[in-house]
This record gives sequence, structure tokens and C-alpha cells, in this order.
Amino acid sequence: MTVAEVRDRYLAFFEKRGHVVIPSAAIVPENDPTTLFTSSGMQPLVPYLLGEPHPKGSKLVNSQMCFRAEDIEEVGDNRHTTFFEMLGNWSLGDYFKKEQLPRLFEFLTNREEGLGLDPEKLYVTVFAGDEDAGMGKDGESVMLWQGLFKEKGIDAKFVELGTEEVGSKTGMQGGRIFAYGAKKNWWSRSGVPNKMPAGEPGGPDSEVFYDFGTPHDTKFGTHCHPNCDCGRFIEIGNSVFMQYVKQEDGSFAELPKKNVDFGGGLERLAAATLHNPDVFLVDVFDEARAEIARHAYSFLESKDEKPVYKKYASSPDITKAYRVILDHIRAATFMIADGVRPSNTEQGYVLRRLIRRAVRFADFLHLGQGKETVHSPLTRIAQYFIDAYAFGKNGYSQLAKELNTVINEIGQEEKRFRNTLANGMRELEKMGDNIDAFVLFTTYGFPIELTEEIAKERGVAIDTHAVRVQMKDHQEKSRAGAAQKFKGGLADTSTETTMLHTTTHLMLAGLRKYLGDHVHQAGSNITAERTRFDFTHPEKVSREILDKVEAYVNEAIEKGAAVTIEQVPKDAARAAGVEGSFWEKYPDVVNVYTVKADDGTIYSQELCGGPHVAHTGVIRDTGKRFKIVKEEASSAGVRRIKAVLQ
Ligand code: ALA
Repeated sequence: MTVAEVRDRYLAFFEKRGHVVIPSAAIVPENDPTTLFTSSGMQPLVPYLLGEPHPKGSKLVNSQMCFRAEDIEEVGDNRHTTFFEMLGNWSLGDYFKKEQLPRLFEFLTNREEGLGLDPEKLYVTVFAGDEDAGMGKDGESVMLWQGLFKEKGIDAKFVELGTEEVGSKTGMQGGRIFAYGAKKNWWSRSGVPNKMPAGEPGGPDSEVFYDFGTPHDTKFGTHCHPNCDCGRFIEIGNSVFMQYVKQEDGSFAELPKKNVDFGGGLERLAAATLHNPDVFLVDVFDEARAEIARHAYSFLESKDEKPVYKKYASSPDITKAYRVILDHIRAATFMIADGVRPSNTEQGYVLRRLIRRAVRFADFLHLGQGKETVHSPLTRIAQYFIDAYAFGKNGYSQLAKELNTVINEIGQEEKRFRNTLANGMRELEKMGDNIDAFVLFTTYGFPIELTEEIAKERGVAIDTHAVRVQMKDHQEKSRAGAAQKFKGGLADTSTETTMLHTTTHLMLAGLRKYLGDHVHQAGSNITAERTRFDFTHPEKVSREILDKVEAYVNEAIEKGAAVTIEQVPKDAARAAGVEGSFWEKYPDVVNVYTVKADDGTIYSQELCGGPHVAHTGVIRDTGKRFKIVKEEASSAGVRRIKAVLQ
């Protein structure tokens, strides 16, 4: 099946079973300090998984654009991509295990409405329990799976593996259902139970693997088993039974409602329908791959020589180069269409890295003969992705609208990178036999592999090991710096932080009331102790105004005003004067949070992803009141406020 067919079938299957289809949220999340990008379908739904009612009800389904920056270096094998679509269905306190597993199994195996996968090729895993977290084995899921396989005439043996290391030593033991520990079968945004911060939801999960039947590679362990990385088994879906929330004291409490959070990689599911483990062979890559193939050939020494084409899958290096280009340009296309631009910070830096890596691998394949041209092959590849994704019932129409911007940004970044390379080359020439790869990289952005290649040509020895150690240290330092910088939004989802988040909305409304409509959020960082809020305003704000803003916020707190969420079309929200920064990053339908008192006064109306208190009476009842403790300059035209509840 094509990617679009799998996506359409999934959405229709769950819609028919009472789910509401919700749009994909933007790839750059709002108010989520855990990550720079939306990296799973549940991320935009965290407030609802924690208990807030969702405006569309308790059964939802979608296909969410996801990006995982941590996988950049992994791209090259047959299944890792940085960008992917995650098919997701959710029960927000509605159905649970005994409905989810049969329904998923039906979708995977049913020929008419689902994917028609052969049940013999499906293997499943469940949670073995975790002593530290005080959680037992998920016996219920074992029973459910055994019943489901039995209906298909399969006697599904259960094998308890506990850790993946055990699996590589013992092998499958004729099993079909396997229990692994928390490392493999517990899911939260922060991983295993003891890594979760207070306020974080999570739970045991049950994964489905597809057996592609490829021979086991002993590089990954003596024996194969579902969680082995040799590539025979690929995970195609994960049902998380999200029923717990981490407490301040490290223990777990049951969430007010038990949820199901299912996520399945769309391309991987499409690959399973083709029974081919290479996700880069699903249809959305076809035209882009053909475009690379047309231009990937060795340099010709003379006119008489025939070009030697570098075909996909003709050698491991060539295959990797194709995959990196395909993955990175597709990710760059979606990011640019979502408003990200190449830069040296945050999301922009990741985008820059993707495009520059794609240029390097394109040069390896000799695409465009290593020259930047008006219509470089990379921009044409982006166009093929837009063709593959923008159309159809559940396509991404924003891509078509942003076609020119996508092409322009990729082309410009390629040009800038080629200038960098040219400057680096000049410096390298100047260095003669004393090549300093580290300086070339840090000062000129010149890639270390290139320095190595050139040095080799000249027969100059450079201590690559020492340079790599130096580089690693440098990268770790900048990563640590970046992690600090990225910590915007909410530090956690504890009650205190959530109260300050709602208070921050009220404060922004107050600032706009007393200073004017030019005031918008320029950044925020909210912890359990305080809110730090940057906003656009050209000069110091007087204490008199700050007092008025405080009084405004406290009035709303005293009234116990209700906080409600509504999903509205973005254009309508904007036209109605709803407050929000970064509009371009939001999907066509947005969440608007309104703080409204019983007497009808609307205190705030703002675009947001939550979480918020249900009503400001929660804050009032703590006896605390809002106080602005500091107001200072942040950067040109931006002021910063530090405020607390005390
Ligand atoms: N949120 C779960 C995942 O990302 C479904 O695997």
C-alpha cells in the first residue's frame, strides 16, 4: 500500500469506531520544554491525558508530523528517519486494554478495512513489571493477545525475557508474546519510571513487531528476538496504557482517568504491507529517489567515457548517502513549511544541520557535480516531496502553499554552505602542512571529514583521533549550552507550575490592557517557584502600571474564573483578537484558552497548548496572591518580568 492509503485507512477505521479525527499539530511545539520538536503524537495532548476534557471528546485519532533530532546520526540504516508521521489513536478515559488490543489487531490484519497483514508475521511484547516502581507484570495483555492469536489459529506461546540482553542469549524459544522490562515496555516522554519528573504521565505498553524474515546478524547478539536491532523485526505500533502520574515523592498515582495512547510509524506500517523492511522504498520516496538516481554518477574524465551511475543499494556507502539526502530534505521541507528558517540557534540550527548534511552527501554522490546551481538537485528533491505529500484527502496542503519558500530557503542555505566550504578551503591552503582541523571546523564550519580527505590527498598526516576527542568535547559543551537555552515554556506539569502558567496568561492580558496591543509574548520560562516572562515593549514599565497588572490578575483569581479550551479555526481566532505569538507555527485549527468569570468578564483569551488549572479558584484556595517582583530589560525592545504566587 501507499503511505496515503495506509493513513486514509487508519483514520477511516478509527473514525468509524467513534473517534474524532484531529489535525496534526505543528512540528515546533508550544510550551513544551522537554523537546524542540513534536516527537510523538501524544505530545500536543498532554493536558488532556492528565485529565482536562478535550473539546472533541474522549476518542481521538490523527496522523502527527514528528521529528526526532536525536536520530540524525542514525539515518542510513533501513528504518531510521528523523521525520516521520505517527498514526495515533487515543482513549481519554474511555476504552482501555481489552478494546485497544483487539481493535488494533483487527486494523493490522483485516483485508477490507485495515492493512491485511499476515498474523503469522506479527509478534508482540508486554510489560514484565518493574520492582523499583512497584509495578507488576501486565498479565491482562498477555491473555488478550493469546485470545486474539488463537482466533487466527495461532497458538501464541508466552516467554518472559525481562531484559533485552536475556533475549540475545536465549533467543525466541518458540514464543510469540514476550515480556520485557521497563526499558522496553514502559513509555513516558522521559523514558523509564525513575527518569520521570513529578507530574509526568506514563504507563506500561504493548508493542507489535513485524517479522520481515531477514537473516539474523550476530553483530547484534547470539540470537534474534523482537527487540533485537538486526532489522529482522521492526516495531510497527505501540499501545501505551497511560494510567499513572509520577508524584513528588517518587511514587506513582493513578491518573483520574485511564488512557490509551497508541502510536504507529506510518512509513514502517506501509513497509510491512509491502513486506520489504526498507522504509525508503515506500512510495513517498519514489520520485525523490529517482531524481537522485538521475544525477548520481561519477565524474567523467573525458568525453568518450561513459558515466557510471551510483544506483540505490549498489553499495552500503551509496545507499546511506541516498537515505540521508531523502530523510534530511523531507524533514527540511516540512520544517520550512512550518515556519522554521536556517539559523545558528534552536530549531533553525537543526534545520541548518539537516540541509548541510544533505549537501555533503549529495556531493559524495556527485549530484550537480558538487556545484550550487540555480535549481540544485536538492531543491528539486524537495519539490518531489511536496508533490508526494501536499495532495489527497489527508494530505499536507500547507506544503503546496509554501513551495517557493521551501525551495528558496534550501537553495540559499546550500549557497551559504558552499561559501563556507570555499572559505575553509582557502584557510586550509594557507595552513600548508600544519592543518588544524579543529580550527577549521569551529571557526569556518568546515566539516572534519573534508579536512581529512584533503589532507590525505596531500599526504599530510593529521591526528584525527585527537581532533575527534577535541570535537566531541566541544560538541558536548555546546549541547549542554543548548539544552539550557531550550528550556523555555514550562519546567514541569506540577500544580504549582500549572497555576503560574494560568497566572502568566492573566498577566499578559493585564499588560496588554494597561500598556497597549503592541505587547506580545517574546518568551517564557515557568517553574514551580516563579514565572519569567519576556514581552515586547520599548521602555521600562512603571511600578504604578505593574501594580495595576497585579490587581487585574488578583481580581481574576479572587473570582474563581473558569478556564475553558475551545478548538477554533486559526483565522477566526486571529480575527476575533485572540492573543498569540508565532501564529505561523500553529495548525489550521488552534486551541484557545479563555479565562472567564461567572459575571461574564473575560480576563484572558490566548492561544496555548496548556496545561492550565480548571478554574482560578484553585489558586485562590491556596491563599496565595500574584506579585511582580522584578521588571527589567531583556533585549532591544523586549522587557522581562519575574513574578510569583506568594
Ligand atoms: N507515545 C507513544 C510512542 O511514542 C505511543 O511510542
